[in-house]
Amino acid sequence: MILFENSSFYLETKNTSYVMRVLDNKVLSNAYYGKKIGRCNLNAFSLIRGIGYSPSIALEGKNVSPLMIPWEMPTYGQGNFGLPGISVIGADNRFVNELSYESYEIINGKPSIKGMPSFDTNVEDVQTLKITLRDKALNYRVILYYSVFEKEDVITRRTEIVNMTDEQILIKSASSAAIEFQSKKFQMTTLKGSWARERWIDTYDLHQGVNSVESRRGSSSHQLNPFMALSEKNTTEHMGDVYGFALVYSADFKISVEVNEVDSVRVIAGINPENFCWRLQAGESFETPECVLTYSADGFNGMSHNFHNLCRNHLGKCADKNVKHPIVINNWEATYFNFNDEKIIEFIKACKGLGIDTMVLDDGWFGHRDNDDSSLGDWFIDEKKFPNGLEKVIETCKSQGMNFGIWFEPEMISRDSDLFRAHPDWCIHTDLREPVESRTQLVLDYSRQEVVDYIFEVMDDFLSKNDISYVKWDMNRNITDNGSNWLGEYQGEFSHRNILGVYDLEKRLTEAHPDVFFEGCAGGGGRVDFGILYYMPQIWTSDDTDSIERLRIQYGTSLVYPPSTMSAHISAVPNHQTGRITPFKSRNDVAQMCNFGYELNVAKLPQKEIEQIPKQVEEHRGLEPLIQDGDYYRLLNPFTGKQCAWELVSEDKKKAYVMLAAVNIAGNDTSYYVKPRGLNPEFIYQINDTDIIADGETIMNVGIPVVEPLGEYETRTFYLTKI
Ligand code: DGJ
Repeated sequence: MILFENSSFYLETKNTSYVMRVLDNKVLSNAYYGKKIGRCNLNAFSLIRGIGYSPSIALEGKNVSPLMIPWEMPTYGQGNFGLPGISVIGADNRFVNELSYESYEIINGKPSIKGMPSFDTNVEDVQTLKITLRDKALNYRVILYYSVFEKEDVITRRTEIVNMTDEQILIKSASSAAIEFQSKKFQMTTLKGSWARERWIDTYDLHQGVNSVESRRGSSSHQLNPFMALSEKNTTEHMGDVYGFALVYSADFKISVEVNEVDSVRVIAGINPENFCWRLQAGESFETPECVLTYSADGFNGMSHNFHNLCRNHLGKCADKNVKHPIVINNWEATYFNFNDEKIIEFIKACKGLGIDTMVLDDGWFGHRDNDDSSLGDWFIDEKKFPNGLEKVIETCKSQGMNFGIWFEPEMISRDSDLFRAHPDWCIHTDLREPVESRTQLVLDYSRQEVVDYIFEVMDDFLSKNDISYVKWDMNRNITDNGSNWLGEYQGEFSHRNILGVYDLEKRLTEAHPDVFFEGCAGGGGRVDFGILYYMPQIWTSDDTDSIERLRIQYGTSLVYPPSTMSAHISAVPNHQTGRITPFKSRNDVAQMCNFGYELNVAKLPQKEIEQIPKQVEEHRGLEPLIQDGDYYRLLNPFTGKQCAWELVSEDKKKAYVMLAAVNIAGNDTSYYVKPRGLNPEFIYQINDTDIIADGETIMNVGIPVVEPLGEYETRTFYLTKI
């Protein structure tokens, strides 16, 4: 619901209000964002005033300090010293900007963004507010878009910049969203990590100055996810104010939070202005990626539910109810590069009768790739390994009742490849220096349309000629040599143009092959973001398959991304990343909360574990509706406590599933309770392996007793069923 009254915009969702005021028909300011309030005039609540030794401007009959104005889209100028949301360099290199309110429009639905993924644009119950601001001196317009997703308590924002001059201007920074909160003492939560240790939850006090998360790696990165939350100090998983921000973007991003000397907290989110500079010709416009804003009074889990619901209801492939997530077996950790058709056929045959849906052939099937030194870009079957092509392998899969999937790394090129020999200039580089290698590979320059077109043709042909139902799309290195010769003096456009090329390929391939299931991957979870998830409904969460490590990784990832977007596999022990030996049951229990599968050679398992597989598969089929459509709750925090527990509750609340794992054990550990959430208080539930038959209210308040504490790496699961 969007309303304009008395110079104020009211954007309302089920539980939140977002209010902006236009001051003196000139300055667009934020008046309130948070729990739903009445539509009263907020003038009398304003903190805006003059401050000694600070610039002042005349506004609403007073001299006030720009420091005290909660700018909706700040610029450098007007006595505003903080971070700008928009920064344009006009004729004669003038860089002082001043945006004034011009007009607004409320439209039903949501316009799409050219060349970029965004939340649904064909939704009827979404309204969009367009506010136009104008810098009269530099002569450009900024259109702020606010789309209101009422049911999910979300507002998505983005920006468009229009050059009104008859010459070129330069955009130095173009944020998707900016907002300023006054008089706040927030904490900031981020998802930090590295390869094989992605998305650990990190919460810290904001300090005066700029606090930020960002990537300059050409991908959204393992290191800092394009997400940030602000919360009051005492906020818990289930209580307290949380504001969540997440970008629908997969390349260089930055979310900055600047605290100034009067405790105003300014958030600027969007493309990373570092290494960015975009030329805008006369009459042209530039559209930013989308940013999701959500507020919850129900703590971090409440925020997560809003993100999860938005993703599952309105994000491209994630919202497509026809998409089925198969149970897979992948050969990577079982064979690495060391395989041929006979070995793979044996691998497939060992899966007979287990119920697994799809076998995924990982890296090493193309060119002459026996290790990671070569062949990326040569997407043709290695005839040494597969003298008769893939036909026999696919046939074997089919005869076992399985489908066949395959690995690609479409954005890469090896020096030792026919593609590189034919097109040495297709890798990301500039004339000035030799490109840096990582994992002995270079990156293709997707800012060049011919490169995107070539990879599309090759992959399209391959997918058309072979019976393939699943593609794992990997991306194993960051971009180091940001730039492209064809851009001349406009190298600052490279990173954004490159990701537009990636999105173009993802769009064309997924549209050309609607029945193929695409899984995202970037050295595990190096590109887990809403941009990739738009095209690929699930992402390989991490290369770390150790079940104890996965507790933190999956728990952290769930802050923003629903379990339906993550994949988790049971792998062999000792674990290849940590050397840890965990029970087969624990590996199963931890992997069951996501899209499930195996990353091992079945033939090498002890018979009693092989016999478990059909039961695990069946267990997963039972959990699928809870994973895809249910609600996810974080119950015990593995970052701060001795246990980890999470829960899935079915949409109708008739079923719930709780997984409990020991993270740290000690001698003489105490007994304790795990309190489920989200049950129907009135339903009577029975809990497996316990004597409990009780109403939801009782179970949620008393908790499930854990009488015997768990041992090292042990897990326990509880199924709650309405009787
Ligand atoms: C990184 C992925 O995350 C792994 O699962 C595997 O596909 C390798 N790349 C292959 O190179």
